[in-house]
Amino acid sequence: PTTLQSSIGQVTLDSYVMNASGPRCSSAEELHLIGRSNAAAIVTKSCTILPREGNAEPRYRDLELGAIQSMGLPNLGYNAYLDLVPELLEHNKPVVVSISGLSLADNETMVKAFDGSDASLLEVNFSCPNIAGKPQTAYDFEQVENSLTRLCSLTDKPLGIKLAPYFDMSHFDSMAEILNRFPIAFISTINSIGNTLIIDPQTERAVIKPKGGFGGLCGQYVKPIGLANVHAFRQRLRDDIDIVGVGGIYNGTDAFEYALAGASAVQVATSFQQQGEGCFQRINDELAALLEAKGYASIKEVIGQLKAF
Ligand code: DOR
Repeated sequence: PTTLQSSIGQVTLDSYVMNASGPRCSSAEELHLIGRSNAAAIVTKSCTILPREGNAEPRYRDLELGAIQSMGLPNLGYNAYLDLVPELLEHNKPVVVSISGLSLADNETMVKAFDGSDASLLEVNFSCPNIAGKPQTAYDFEQVENSLTRLCSLTDKPLGIKLAPYFDMSHFDSMAEILNRFPIAFISTINSIGNTLIIDPQTERAVIKPKGGFGGLCGQYVKPIGLANVHAFRQRLRDDIDIVGVGGIYNGTDAFEYALAGASAVQVATSFQQQGEGCFQRINDELAALLEAKGYASIKEVIGQLKAF
């Protein structure tokens, strides 16, 4: 039988598919539901210092091939997730805490706090597109370098960062050059494609309200961009920096493609939002069946093995 066992930052994962920091992972109840599911890990909603209700509604719309959203980081505030870590670990899978401070000082406070917790992995979100007046850190290379200089010194835990999608080879080169100089354990890529616009011709309005309608594009629309970002970084990053693939993963074949591109694990947001926690078992099972049919004994035989012409 095929094994989907993998690892991120030396932390073992019993399967290949976990939730993304995104939908259905803000409340204790939602996080325990992920804990009881087949997800490889429990990833928390990006937290801020203070609790947030998020942006005004309507802020989410399903689309033919995915979704657009501008949630605005609705979360319980980091102290609530600090309190939740011990009980979430009782599900016997890694707990990944996502941190999304509104400033570097906020991120420093939270990385320090979770360094003192039993969280398995820390994922710092450098790529939220939905807070008015706060540009995405991931698009400001100097700020990424500054932030990593400060944050890496604050924890011995495996630290990763969630990146925004890049679209130019020079940007992959520049970002990889920076990341390779820091002791980070992983990157997660991609976040939603920020600041897209979906217009309803009937109402003659954008389909969501925050930021004048500009929001993050998700789902099947973004898979080719996610695959490109995973592959471009796999070709450029140190071998000991793992890559978590995110973007448009709905089935086992999507997950397999991300493995070929170089992902050591994948995260699922839109499919989880649309179908609920059964998606983790289904996608893992579909991936295992595909590997078996192709004669692979382990997902590790596939990771990064995209063939050249
Ligand atoms: O698309 C996103 N939406 N990315 C984030 O990092 C945050 C999230 C939100 O809550 O708006």
